Amino acid sequence: MNGSYPNTRLRRTRATGWSRALHRETLITPADLIWPLFVTEGDGVEQPVASLPGVSRWSVDGIAARAKEAVALGIPVVALFPNTQAERRSDDGAEAHNPDNLMCRAIRAIKDACGDDLGVLTDVALDPYTSHGQDGLLDDKGYVANDATVSALVDQAINQAEAGADIIAPSDMMDGRIHAIRMALEMGEHHNVQIMSYAAKYASAFYGPFRDAVGSGGLLKGDKKTYQMDPANTQEALREVELDIAEGADSVMVKPGLAYLDIVRRVHDNFDVPVFAYQVSGEYAMIEAAAAAGAGDRDALVLETLMAFKRAGCSGVLTYHAPRAARLLNG
Ligand code: PBG
Repeated sequence: MNGSYPNTRLRRTRATGWSRALHRETLITPADLIWPLFVTEGDGVEQPVASLPGVSRWSVDGIAARAKEAVALGIPVVALFPNTQAERRSDDGAEAHNPDNLMCRAIRAIKDACGDDLGVLTDVALDPYTSHGQDGLLDDKGYVANDATVSALVDQAINQAEAGADIIAPSDMMDGRIHAIRMALEMGEHHNVQIMSYAAKYASAFYGPFRDAVGSGGLLKGDKKTYQMDPANTQEALREVELDIAEGADSVMVKPGLAYLDIVRRVHDNFDVPVFAYQVSGEYAMIEAAAAAGAGDRDALVLETLMAFKRAGCSGVLTYHAPRAARLLNG
């Protein structure tokens, strides 16, 4: 019996460091990381986010400095999220279309600082701009209206592309938005602007700290269950991905991350499209809380979870731990 003990001892190849290195199946490098950054008004401003220890909102000058840091660390892309001032929020989120909004100023500052050495990914959804904290426009019953929202998202995406965004990432979960945004990008001759769609985004309890960071948490009444997915569903995630590919997405995302690695694996196995995952704010906070409580080693927890994403089939991961992980991986 060839494959049985003691002919086969799987511990043989684990016995030494060199052998473990030789047999390692999955590799993670800083080039697998996307670093989400929160932008705020002002100059020289750094505001720590209480529910995300170690993460701050930065004014535009600080964002440019973080962008240079990303390049130095070998991180290829940063993702931007604005903390829009309360007085600039409205029911219709019109600030999303202002060519001089916080997001557009941050995009331009990064492009001035880093040019093509760094990709800029921008989130498309209205929640950082609405006074009600929902991702879209409400009808008179308070329902998030799909088609009206899609046309607002198209304007938002074009506004970002014109400011220099490299990857448009719609996180709103409206039906049909990828097709509409792709058409508008083509019409606007933004032929090389990518779309990374948040294709399978679940109505999750893990987004709490993010909503604090962009300032929409206190505003949001109710939940996002009429557009974000039910955590119980897998087949539906595959349908979402299939549609988004057909509509013109270059890559797709699964979100949240750790609790949804089965979805990542199924997307990876079913479609020839790059799949990314978002290790979201609540996951970051969980790791930080565990480390602070002495329940685990922070660096080891960070690298082990990021490795899990790669092992499940991810091309890359959005994570607030990106700079820490890149430093660790760079030795
Ligand atoms: C908003 C958006 C959310 C996140 C990214 N874009 C929150 C939400 O849907 O309420 C969450 C990211 C995180 O928790 O880190 N469209």
